[in-house]
Amino acid sequence: MKITISEVGQHIGEEVTIGVWLNNKRSSGKIAFLQLRDGTGFIQGVVVKSEVDEEVFKTAKSLTQETSLYVTGTVTEDERSPFGYELQVKNVEVIHEATDYPITPKEHGTEFLMDHRHLWLRSRRQHAVMKIRNEIIRSTYEFFNQNGFTKIDPPILTGSAPEGTTELFHTKYFEEDAYLSQSGQLYMEAAAMAFGKVFSFGPTFRAEKSKTRRHLIEFWMIEPEMAFYQHEDSLKVQEEYVAYVVQSVLANCKLDLQRLGRDTSKLEKIKAPFPRITYDDAIKLLHEKGFDDIQWGEDFGAPHETAIAESFDMPVFITNYPTAIKPFYMQPHPERPEVVLCADLIAPEGYGEIIGGSERIHDYDLLVKRLKDFHLSEDAYKWYLELRKYGSVPHSGFGLGLERTVAWISGVEHVRETIPFPRLLNRIYP
Ligand code: 4AD
Ligand code: MG
Repeated sequence: MKITISEVGQHIGEEVTIGVWLNNKRSSGKIAFLQLRDGTGFIQGVVVKSEVDEEVFKTAKSLTQETSLYVTGTVTEDERSPFGYELQVKNVEVIHEATDYPITPKEHGTEFLMDHRHLWLRSRRQHAVMKIRNEIIRSTYEFFNQNGFTKIDPPILTGSAPEGTTELFHTKYFEEDAYLSQSGQLYMEAAAMAFGKVFSFGPTFRAEKSKTRRHLIEFWMIEPEMAFYQHEDSLKVQEEYVAYVVQSVLANCKLDLQRLGRDTSKLEKIKAPFPRITYDDAIKLLHEKGFDDIQWGEDFGAPHETAIAESFDMPVFITNYPTAIKPFYMQPHPERPEVVLCADLIAPEGYGEIIGGSERIHDYDLLVKRLKDFHLSEDAYKWYLELRKYGSVPHSGFGLGLERTVAWISGVEHVRETIPFPRLLNRIYP
């Protein structure tokens, strides 16, 4: 019977056939241990010389790394294996022999591995990270579907730029100019006025000249938007959503977290509500911690975010940033127009900002004024302004960066390992 590694638990004591690749191998004169993977999981195959045909043992001993094969054997339980099962091999049938696989079990440099990303994805570590990414996506859909949100897909080719005009990828749209989306937010606001509570999940693009462990040129964002929700209501959704995702990964990716050596006790603590600190207090906190360089009105850099996060063992909201350093669409604070009703959510352990969100301006005249302040053309934002002309309501939303969230939950240092094919400042290959 042909099965996958993920199914072996249902076939204990049975003879099965699995299509696999050879990950690694150890052998002596009498026994060969084959580390096998099939994409769904990893299992050890044991070939005992005295129990198989001479030809089979010879083939098993000569298998090279990443050779594809059908392996036939009996599934047994095995307490020593973290996976819990082993395969007592009877037969091996080579499909395609791999010679000189470049990624050997020895250590390789990062650039070498990145050049071979199409193969590196096969490794156990990358498998674990991608499984966690997949679980975050799965539980995201589950959370928003359970909470009455409708998934809406904003366009990727756009004519306007929500997050500022300097970091845009420009292209031609026949005779017109177009840009790759930096955020679906403005379209999600239109969708919220049509469907109430909506969320999107899609790729976004930023031509940022940043070469840090937190920046990608192409990254994926989850963007919920909610009609009749004020800033405070949105914060509640954010903390419940993030806690839900963390608890889902803990429940469904135990082996993956273990394989990555993740300290899960830190994740187990992640429950709503999350602590909040105003921008004003964050500045004070930084001064107390000896960051004399930063003044009120300036944006935080990575070291500042890390220092603030260190005071909490949970993700922390930094609220009410200065109006001057945030985009045009954010609702001003009712008593203090110099700050806006917004929050960034900073992950623990130095992973930085994972969410940016705010209440949106719903007053037509105020929005026109803000567009002028930013030297943005009313014409380009005509449709966006019209949302404030026909039954405008208070509304709020946010964007969660998937790759930074994967990095934090997996405990992986750099976002380049959290997306299958990263686009970085100096890399578009493979
Ligand atoms: O804070 P940002 O720029 O917010 C927006 O785009 C809003 N329009 C979202 C909204 O309200 N609908 O980006 C949101 C998140 C950040 O918190 C961060 O997690 C991630 O997107 N992000 C990046 N991730 C990887 N590489 C980059 N270059 C990123 N830029 C932002
Ligand atoms: Mg931001």
